[in-house]
Amino acid sequence: MKVLLGVTGSIAAYKSVLVARLLVKAGHEVKTILSRGGENFISSLSISNLTVNDVFTEDDFWIPGQKVPLHIELARWPDVVVVAPATMHFLGKLAHGLADDLLTSTIGAIDRPVLLAPAMHTEMWNSRVLQDNVKRLKIFGYEFIGPYEGELSSGDRGIGRMAEPEDIIERVIEIGNTERKLRGKKIVITYGGTEEDIDEVRVITNKSSGKMGISLSRRAKELGAHVIAVVGRVEVHPLYYDEIYYARSVDQLSATLHEIVPKADVLIMAAAVSDFKPVGRMEGKVKRGGKLVVEFEPTEDILKSLSEHKRPDQVFVGFALESKNLLENARKKMEEKGVDMIVANYATAMGSDYISGYILTKDGERIPLETITKSELAILLYDKIAEKIEKG
Ligand code: CTP
Repeated sequence: MKVLLGVTGSIAAYKSVLVARLLVKAGHEVKTILSRGGENFISSLSISNLTVNDVFTEDDFWIPGQKVPLHIELARWPDVVVVAPATMHFLGKLAHGLADDLLTSTIGAIDRPVLLAPAMHTEMWNSRVLQDNVKRLKIFGYEFIGPYEGELSSGDRGIGRMAEPEDIIERVIEIGNTERKLRGKKIVITYGGTEEDIDEVRVITNKSSGKMGISLSRRAKELGAHVIAVVGRVEVHPLYYDEIYYARSVDQLSATLHEIVPKADVLIMAAAVSDFKPVGRMEGKVKRGGKLVVEFEPTEDILKSLSEHKRPDQVFVGFALESKNLLENARKKMEEKGVDMIVANYATAMGSDYISGYILTKDGERIPLETITKSELAILLYDKIAEKIEKG
C-alpha cells in the first residue's frame, strides 16, 4: 500500500518515526511530508533513511521547472494519507481550506481516505474552536484516531496524547484497503426520530438517538459516496455528510424525501418515523388540571409511498423495529414497503451503540447480526448495497 505520511510540529513527532518504520517493515511504501513545524522536531534525514523513500519539506513546495506541481503529483500518489501528529494549527487550516504549505495543499487535492492523529495539550484539545474544527473535519469525511488520555509532554495527565504507532498503522491499513465502491453514488440517509406537536410547547416523539445514522454516514463517506443526511430529532451531532436537511415532523420528512429521493441512487431509511400524529394541534399551551385526552390519527407510511416511484436502478433499505416475531414481521414489512433489503432489529437497539437481528434481502438472503456495533452493521449493509448496485 502507498502511504503518504504528514508530520506537523508537535513533540509527538518522534513517534511518527516509528509509524514510518513499522509501515515500511510491514511492506508498505511510505513518502513523507514534513511541515515547517514538523522539521523542528524530526529531521528529513532520519525519516528518509528509515523509509528509503522521498521526504519533502517546505523548501520543495515550488520547484522551478516542474510539469505537474509537487502537491498535485503527491496528491495523486497514495492509497491513504495519515497525518501524525496533527496539531491544532494544522487541523484549523485543514478545516477551513487554508492551503498555504505543501502538506495542506496536497491534502486539499486528495481523493483518498485521510487519517488524522491529533496530539496537543488537554486545554487545546478541549477548546471550543478546536472541537468545532474537528466536527467540521468529520463532516467532510476525515477520519480521526485519538487523542487519548495519558501522560503529556508537560508532565500533566489528560486527553491529548497521540494514538500509539501500532494502533495508527492498524487503522491506516483498514481505511487504505477500503475500496471506494460507492464513489459518486448519492445516498440519502434518514435518521433520528420524528416529533409531532400536541400543543404549542409539547410534542410526541420516540427514543431514537440518531447513532445509527452517524455510523451509516461515516461508512458511506469511507466508500466514496455523496451523503445526503435527512435528520429528525437527534441526540448526536450530525456528521459525515455532503448535504443536510432537517425534517422534524412526518409531513416535513415526507415532503423532503419526495423531493430528493428521485435524484438519489440509494435510500436508507433509518429514521424512527411516528406512526401516529395528534388530530390537529391544540391552541396555545394547554393548562394544567384534569385529564388530557389526545386523539391520534395514522401518519403516511413514507417508505411505502416512496417505493411506489422507485426506479429499478435504485436501492431502498428499510429498518424494522420489532419487539416480537422479528423475522416474520420484518419480512412482511420488506414486502409491503417495497424495499430491497431490511434491517430487522429489536427495540433495545434504540439509543444503543449495538444492534442485533438480521439483514434480510428481497433475494431471500438472511444475514444474522449477533450483537455487533452499529459501525460493523454499516460495513455489512454497504457490502450488500454495493452488490445489489453491481448486479443491477
Ligand atoms: N417508516 C416510514 N413511515 C412511517 C413509519 C415507518 O417510512 N410512517 C419506515 C421506517 O423509517 C423504517 C420502516 O418504515 O425504515 C419500518 O419502520 P417500523 O417502525 O419498524 O415499522 P412500521 O411501518 O412503523 O410498523 P409497526 O410500527 O406496526 O411495526
